Amino acid sequence: MSTQTAPKTGQERPVTAPDIRARKGESPIACITAYDYCSGTIADQSGADLVLVGDSLAMVMLGHEDTLSVTMDEMLHHTRAASRGVKRALLVGDMPFLSYNLSTEQALANAGRFLSEGRAKAVKLEGGVGVAPQVKAIVDAGIPVLGHIGLTPQHVARFGGFKAQGKTAEAVKSMLDDALALEEAGVFAIVLEAVPEEAAQLITEALSVPTIGIGAGAVTDGQILVYHDVLGMFDRFTPKFVRRYGELGELCAETLKRYCDDVRHCHFPTEKHTLHMDDDEAAKLRKIKRPKR
Ligand code: KIV
Repeated sequence: MSTQTAPKTGQERPVTAPDIRARKGESPIACITAYDYCSGTIADQSGADLVLVGDSLAMVMLGHEDTLSVTMDEMLHHTRAASRGVKRALLVGDMPFLSYNLSTEQALANAGRFLSEGRAKAVKLEGGVGVAPQVKAIVDAGIPVLGHIGLTPQHVARFGGFKAQGKTAEAVKSMLDDALALEEAGVFAIVLEAVPEEAAQLITEALSVPTIGIGAGAVTDGQILVYHDVLGMFDRFTPKFVRRYGELGELCAETLKRYCDDVRHCHFPTEKHTLHMDDDEAAKLRKIKRPKR
């Protein structure tokens, strides 16, 4: 267990992976996704402890139907943009589909790119026992890893859709084995997605690293939600476990409509938004012969 003092919201020192690790059993860890400079800045200003550039960007930013199509280059592009806005929270880059499954060498090389090119401070990857060797190799190279089990969207084809996991005692036992394998491999925390609270409780109590829940009830050591879901900006579907704290999608559309109406009715721009030349230059300009039309 780290002896570092856990940072409090509003503290200036950047949050580190050991800080998050040390929050086990302390005050709940608040995590949110972000995908570019603007959302990264806003997420950081919210006081979130951890900002994840999730591969959910495939859906909420790029409009894909699942997370499988987003590439390493796209993830790095967005992670680097978010890194310019995230100054205090721990910035985590999400390793996309098949960017870590082929070999430990492939996993390590791609994890490294998230730090060197994306300027993230840690990476996340999905899976348990099967990816533990990759997790260990990445951690051994000095890169903090956030695990992710339960409903792992990169396995959506195997699950037959975005379906809650861990519905039977046997399934939860296997999920616990995954969690313990990840802990053994050195993760600093584990995301538990769309699992019954009973499963989340068992796993949270069995681990010495924090669990970060999304649809895992109130028993985990922290929570994470997708930026667009919290703000009410993604309408294709809203999972049962999401609380929409705002309706910014509607607000943005109404605001842009007011702009379009103003343009159409010549109410924008006004004198206040207009640039002018110095008087003497304007006078010279008036003397310039205008071409005939
Ligand atoms: O991609 C993502 O945004 C995620 C979080 C929802 C945990 O994996």
